[in-house]
Amino acid sequence: MKHTAVDVIRAKRDGEILSDEQIDWVIAAYTRGEVADEQMSALAMAVFLNGLTSAETARWTQAMIDSGERLSWPVSTVDKHSTGGVGDKITLPLAPLVAACGVAVPQLSGRGLGHTGGTLDKLESIPGWRASLSSAEIRDQLLSVGAVICAPTEGLAPADRKLYALRDVTATVECVPLIASSIMSKKIAEGAGALVLDVKVGSGAFMKSLPAARELASALVELGVAHGQKVAALLTDMSVPLGRAVGNAVEVAEAVDVLQGGGPADVVSLTVALAAEMLSLAGVSADPAAVLASGEAFETWCRMITAQDGDPSAALPSPKHVHVVEAPRGGVLSRLDALGVGVAAWRLGAGRARKEDPVQAAAGILCHAKPGERVTAGQPLLELHTDTPDAVEGALAALTDAYEITEEAPAKTPLILDTIRG
Ligand code: URA
Repeated sequence: MKHTAVDVIRAKRDGEILSDEQIDWVIAAYTRGEVADEQMSALAMAVFLNGLTSAETARWTQAMIDSGERLSWPVSTVDKHSTGGVGDKITLPLAPLVAACGVAVPQLSGRGLGHTGGTLDKLESIPGWRASLSSAEIRDQLLSVGAVICAPTEGLAPADRKLYALRDVTATVECVPLIASSIMSKKIAEGAGALVLDVKVGSGAFMKSLPAARELASALVELGVAHGQKVAALLTDMSVPLGRAVGNAVEVAEAVDVLQGGGPADVVSLTVALAAEMLSLAGVSADPAAVLASGEAFETWCRMITAQDGDPSAALPSPKHVHVVEAPRGGVLSRLDALGVGVAAWRLGAGRARKEDPVQAAAGILCHAKPGERVTAGQPLLELHTDTPDAVEGALAALTDAYEITEEAPAKTPLILDTIRG
């Protein structure tokens, strides 16, 4: 039967369930440029308003996978995907750690948009480091080093690349079936043997509440299972920035601290927990905490950076301007809001507003105190880094209500809120 975009849009607008053929056709025709952006925008909005069933979402995902190439690897592989947060540099220590434990990690990552940072932007603050690799380079590095963090190849889920850019400008991003199919089409096409998802919950995340995050995590795991993927999801707290560094070079420095046996406790424990889940899915018994402590993960990091022309021992860029926010009074820091800190770091130049904007390698924020810690009046609370001093005013505005100092220590929120296994 011959389909038309108008028929498919009308069907979803009227709350009908799309047939497999309609979904396959519309995704393929959109990828070829035969369905126009304005028609796909209308369909995305109809899906946003009327949803997709589990079966429709699985077919939509398959159609987006089929729009491009599906990679395969000559060794046992496992990957991790985070839905994005503030100070989330976990991929940086995690990939070399899991590789040092014996399972290869092909991590095709993205750039940041809005207040959440992008892994590639962070790594590009390392002098010489190169994000774009050919398929042959990725394969060689996986075999020689065991870990690769790089940009996706052009042919990976091109339908999603087009559709995600369109959703970004048509207010259709926040829709569970569209988010789930977008993430899983890329991850399944990437071809890792197993996948662990870190679904963030809280002000700094896409999903602000636990029920919303649980819905997304369940949809992601369900999609993985439907496609024969070994998959698990951790729901983790993103109401507070992860670690003490938010930005680009500052996050790389913190990741290196973790790999050298130091670093903030939350970054270390989430890295080890995700590594344990990845190794368990891959069927490998290793103790990631012991491997981290042994220094082997740091050695793998150095080889991984060097393989991509980076210099792991080079000094990271430092900012032209530093502004310190002092504690207005003594007490206990009872709140440090992830969204406020993320928006402030973004305004300082660590993130971008449009995908073609550049980022500043040295921009970011150091949090000298985290919730639960005692502070004295006048001590440095937050250190703002930027190359553009004019940006400080906007960053300070984002921080106005982002922290609170009280007499009593706040109740501790667990970092890992739940785990959903496929
Ligand atoms: N990340 C993605 O890759 N896709 C979405 O739709 C949302 C977050």
